[in-house]
Parts: sequence; structure tokens; C-alpha cells
Amino acid sequence: MSDQSAIDTDVWTLTRFITETGRQAKGATGELTQLINAMLTAIKAISSAVRKAGLAHLQGIAGTVNVTGDEVKKLDVLSNDLVINMLRASYSTCALVSEENKDAIIIPADKRGKYVVCFDPLDGSSNIDCLASIGTIFAIYKRTSEGEPTEKDALQKGDNIVCAGYALYGSATLVALTTGAGVNFFMLDPALGEFILTERNVKMKKRGKIYSLNEGYAMYFDPALTEYLKHKKFPEDGSAPYGARYVGSMVADIHRTIAYGGIFMYPANEKSPKGKLRLLYECNPIAYVIEQAGGLATTGTQRILDVQPETIHQRVPFIVGSTEDVEEYLSFVKKHQK
Ligand code: F6P
Repeated sequence: MSDQSAIDTDVWTLTRFITETGRQAKGATGELTQLINAMLTAIKAISSAVRKAGLAHLQGIAGTVNVTGDEVKKLDVLSNDLVINMLRASYSTCALVSEENKDAIIIPADKRGKYVVCFDPLDGSSNIDCLASIGTIFAIYKRTSEGEPTEKDALQKGDNIVCAGYALYGSATLVALTTGAGVNFFMLDPALGEFILTERNVKMKKRGKIYSLNEGYAMYFDPALTEYLKHKKFPEDGSAPYGARYVGSMVADIHRTIAYGGIFMYPANEKSPKGKLRLLYECNPIAYVIEQAGGLATTGTQRILDVQPETIHQRVPFIVGSTEDVEEYLSFVKKHQK
């Protein structure tokens, strides 16, 4: 007799979860549910493409021409096309900002809905060719203006986000999602093709044991950061030094920071006075997720979600993580401002 007891017959899929939360929200029309579902379809397709990329690369067809003579799109271009096409077809968006497109994408009038989406379709793309983890990041806003949508509709503070999340294409594919009532983790079950709720209302540790940044740029760091890092490596109070981890794919570094605690930094430095990471589709969505998980996200002088965006691709210094770790870093910043 076969044992089927291990199969959960009342499983919480992500589709079920967002349908349920959508039904419970006051005045909800189902448009956000439609949008999130479209984003999830794109994420599943990206995940499947990511899993095949190594093989495609070995066969020498990535970025060139495949056996049928069709142009094979590079993974980041393919991911961008997938997200744009799925969102456009969801009838729930009016303007999109992508890391891959110089200008905002304005959705044709007959397909418009009330949401604006800022996204990075494939973050950490320098890690694609070495098969390290990469991710997708997105933030959803309600449009606040009337008339023809423009790029300005995306220049909202992160505080206005209605839903944000990321997908991590790691040893498994995971989605972290928040609609402002805590963060939930969903793992892709490849057999079902569905994301399954694996962790509800995720909360970060108040303090971790890991710091994460590209320390190769140390010669350009400011004195506050240099002193903070020295303190982490040579603690004077007898505590153990912190471990260092840096994947170089923000989603992977952030997911570890949420899971284990600690601090992730892409600070300003002499060479990049505004850091490297982009406010609209990298920092804001991650800051929103981190705050929802009980952590902090700052530029070093301002809460990330309070920054008023001026341009769609603007950069900001980015320091996020466990509250006590970020506060400790900020105490070094304050000390050096005096
Ligand atoms: O912005 C893209 C990105 O690949 C992030 O995912 C990552 O955190 C960062 O750049 C790595 O930059 P660097 O190579 O300068 O450390």
C-alpha cells in the first residue's frame, strides 16, 4: 500500500494566499491580485530559463543563434521582456520602470490599470555566467495622478509602496512578498509549478554575526565606515569578530541577511559618491521588505523609504539589516559628523 500521508491536501500556494488577502482587503477590485499573478508567471518563466541557462551556455547557444535559427536572447533581456509582457497583459498597470530600459514604459490606453511597477528583472547579472544566485526585484505603487501616465508617476517615495518583493534563483527558487502586513516566504515546487508558503510573518534577528559589502573598495571608504569595519573585525569588548559574506548578487546577500541577521552595505565611496544601487527598483523594494521583517534601511543619513526620487535611475547609498547592526553603524557615522 502506498503511503500518501506526506502530501498536504490543503496547501497554501502563493496564488491562494494573494487571492485570500485580496478578498479580505476593503474596497479591493482584484486588480492587484491580477498584477501579482502576472509577476509570478514572469518569475516562474525566468526561473525556468535560469535553470536551463548553464546547459544552453555549454551548448554555445546563449546570446547567439539556436538550432532552429532563432536568435537566443540573453537571460537579462529575456527576463525583461517576460516581465514587461506579462505586466502589460495583466490590464493592471499604467507605467513600468525597468533597470533595462532608459525611459519608463507607458502602457497603451486600452490595457491600462491603476498600478505603477518598478523592477529589476535580473539582478546580479554579473553572476549569471558563474551560476551563482541571481534574482528579480519589484515594487508596486498606486498611481496618484490623473490623465496620461508619465515617468513622474514612478517618482514616489518608497513609503507609498503597496506591494514589494523579490525572487531568488538560488539552490531553490524563492519569493519573498509583502503587501504591508509582514513578509512571507514561498518556495517554488517544480513538480506543481506553484509557489508554496513556507514561512509566515518572517522576522529578522535584532543582531546578526555577519557583515556584507565589497571590501575590495576599502581604499575609497570614508573614515566612519573604515572605523566601523575595524570594530567588527577587532572588537574591543572581547566579543567575537563578525563573519564576512558577499555574493555580489544583492538579492542573495539580502536574503541571507533576512534569514540569518547582520548587515548588508553598498555605501557611498570616494569613487561612487551615491553608491551603486538604484533607488526605485533595487533599494526601495528591498527596504520595504526589510522594514516589514523588522529591520532597518538607511542611506546613512536618511531612511531609504523617505527619499524623494528625482530621476528613475537614481542611485543611493544603501545600508540595511538587523536593527542593532544598522544602528551601530549609524553611531559611527554620527561620531564622525561631529
Ligand atoms: O546592481 C547590481 C549588482 O549586481 C547587485 O546585485 C550587487 O549587490 C552589486 O551590483 C555588486 O556590485 P560590486 O560588483 O560593485 O560589488
